[in-house]
Amino acid sequence: SAGPHADLISSHIRDVPDFPEPGILFKDITGLLVDPEGFRAVIDALAHAVPADVDLVAGMEARGFILGAALAAHLGKGFVPIRKAGKLPPPTHAVTYDLEYGQACLELREGTVRPGVGVLLVDDVLATGGTAAAAAQLVEAVGARVVGLAFLLELTALDGRSRLAGREVSSILATA
Ligand code: PRP
Repeated sequence: SAGPHADLISSHIRDVPDFPEPGILFKDITGLLVDPEGFRAVIDALAHAVPADVDLVAGMEARGFILGAALAAHLGKGFVPIRKAGKLPPPTHAVTYDLEYGQACLELREGTVRPGVGVLLVDDVLATGGTAAAAAQLVEAVGARVVGLAFLLELTALDGRSRLAGREVSSILATA
């Protein structure tokens, strides 16, 4: 759902080739966050697509924290950080998942997400979907429900949606 501010939003996203590694086209959103109208437009657009049964917003480290926390405050909901390995104090739930090369691990503080609550997962970019699928797995491991996943930008060529089949996925912008 592009919405009326799609051009404003996309004009503030910068492509950085070969960062953080050769062959990766990095989507830099810092110019969007620092622009008051751009930042507001993103949060408004995310809020517009929120499913009705969201109790809690969870964001994936690191840019999912920024968008997710702002969205949660906007909605009057709580926020939960889903972090990379070793950042949260114990006890945590952890899920390990495969990257293109190697493995990664995401963690959730035990006791922060109660069984049965409806969780909206938020991140800046949906690429391969590995991060989002792992985050969804974590939320479900504690007995909560993933009622939706919301992204600022979806990289359609990487087909992250296929790893989120059957889930409610929305993105403000999509690009190959
Ligand atoms: C980026 C992005 C998503 C993830 C998407 O995070 O912010 O979290 O990659 O990729 P995927 O769909 O292929 O899993 P990054 O790894 O750059 O971490 P950072 O936000 O901590 O810098």
